[in-house]
Amino acid sequence: MTGNQLRLRRAGARDVDYLLDLQVDPDVAPFLSAGRAATREELMEEIQRSLVEPEAFGRLMIEAPFEREWRLVGAIGFERANKRSRIARVGGLAVHPDFRGRGLGKAAVRELARVLFSELGYHRLEAGVYGFNERGMAAIEKAGFVREGVKRRAYRPAGEWVDAVEFGLLVDEF
Ligand SMILES: CC(C)(COP(=O)(O)OP(=O)(O)OC[C@H]1O[C@@H](n2cnc3c(N)ncnc32)[C@H](O)[C@@H]1OP(=O)(O)O)[C@@H](O)C(=O)NCCC(=O)NCCS
Repeated sequence: MTGNQLRLRRAGARDVDYLLDLQVDPDVAPFLSAGRAATREELMEEIQRSLVEPEAFGRLMIEAPFEREWRLVGAIGFERANKRSRIARVGGLAVHPDFRGRGLGKAAVRELARVLFSELGYHRLEAGVYGFNERGMAAIEKAGFVREGVKRRAYRPAGEWVDAVEFGLLVDEF
C-alpha cells in the first residue's frame, strides 16, 4: 500500500512496543477511543486478527520517507462494520507528535480510503471523532469525509460526557 508521500503496511508482532508507546503519548491518548485495545495482549490479538482477516480488519503502520529512509510516523486502522452493505469504520489514527503538521494524517486517511475502496471493495467508510478533537476532525474532513451528524454526549472518555461527530465517505465521492 503506497501513496505519494507515505505508505501503509500491516502491523506485525515487532510493532507492538511502538503502538503501545504511541497510544500512551499525552498528545495522542485523550483523542483515541477510550475502548481501544490498551494492553500488549489486546494489541497482539488485534495484530493477529489483522493478519488472519485482512479484508475485515486492519492494524496498519504509517511510514513516510525522511532523509531517504522510510520512518514509522504513526498508525491507523479499520474494521468491517457491515458485510452486506460493504461498510468499514476507520479508526485508531495517530501521527507521532514529531511528525505532525506535514499533511501525513490527511494523507494516511486518503491512502487507507484508496485501499478500502479499490482493493477491498468497500462502498462506504465511516469515522467517529470526539467533538473536542479539532485536529482529528480536520484530518478526516480534509481527507474528503463528509460530516454527517453528531451523536450528542455519547461517550465519557475521561469523566465528562462528550459528543462524537460522525463522518462518512462513499466510493463515488472519492
Ligand atoms: C489528528 C492527527 C492524526 C493529525 O495528524 P497531522 O499529520 O498533524 O495532520 P495533517 O498535517 O494531515 O493536518 C490535517 C489538516 O488539519 C489542519 N489542522 C491541524 N490542526 C488543526 C486544528 N487544531 N484545528 C483545525 N485544523 C487543524 C491542518 O491545517 C491540515 O489541513 P491542511 O492540509 O489544509 O493544511 C494527529 O494530530 C494526531 O495523531 N492526533 C492525536 C490522535 C487523534 O486525534 N486521532 C484522530 C482520531 S479520529
